[in-house]
Amino acid sequence: MNILCIGDVVGSVGCEFLRRQLPSLKKLKAIDMVIVNGENSADGNGITPVSAEHILNSGADVITGGNHSFRRFEMYPYFDESNLVIRPANYPDGAYGKGYTVIDFGYTKVGVINLLGVVYTEPLDSPFDTADKIINQLKKDGVKIIIVDIHAEATAEKKALAYYLDGRVSAVFGTHTHVQTADEQILPEKTGFITDLGMTGPINSVLGVKPELAVKKMKNKLPVRFSTAEGPCLMNGCIFDVDNKTGVCNGVERISII
Ligand SMILES: [Fe+2]
Ligand SMILES: [Fe+2]
Repeated sequence: MNILCIGDVVGSVGCEFLRRQLPSLKKLKAIDMVIVNGENSADGNGITPVSAEHILNSGADVITGGNHSFRRFEMYPYFDESNLVIRPANYPDGAYGKGYTVIDFGYTKVGVINLLGVVYTEPLDSPFDTADKIINQLKKDGVKIIIVDIHAEATAEKKALAYYLDGRVSAVFGTHTHVQTADEQILPEKTGFITDLGMTGPINSVLGVKPELAVKKMKNKLPVRFSTAEGPCLMNGCIFDVDNKTGVCNGVERISII
């Protein structure tokens, strides 16, 4: 099956671009499942029920999160109720929502795990140990296809996790930096990998934010309220071609649509 993973959708501008582009891309590439990182999909910050629904209604099967997942209070009950919108699994017990989910397509089941890196981010539980626990559980439950979103700052942490999970999961993709890396590959034990999917949002921006606001913050070192830039958008992602029965990754294709 072809699993399309889309990088951090930024603001309603990014959500709207996704809604316009996703249906035709799904047809063109014969996509069976779509996973979207939505941690920045709300205008202002984080993710809200409105932005989550926007992404799901555009054709996503699962939405993953990251360090901005819990920015918006109105999302907390939604996280608890939803099996389609997850947040990093290595948050402490008691955090709202779930860190992984399983989607049953009838002919196969796909597990999706969301993890947050701990290098230059939050001091959470080890993403390596958390992945071990969840993967063991999913294997016991007979889930053959497992996809991991490692939302992290450091490229080395993402790649090290991918090698650690090589042969145990179908694909590992990185998110968070909003800049797509050109290193899509199949690791030696047949796990697909890319260090970062990139972003879905405005091109003339700093990671989706209005450039003048990012400049102000970087230059003055004072807090600035960010808002999403406008204008033409791009959509970044990666397609993993995964064998339904074995979970082995047979192909990786990087996507960037303007
Ligand atoms: Fe992000
Ligand atoms: Fe992030």
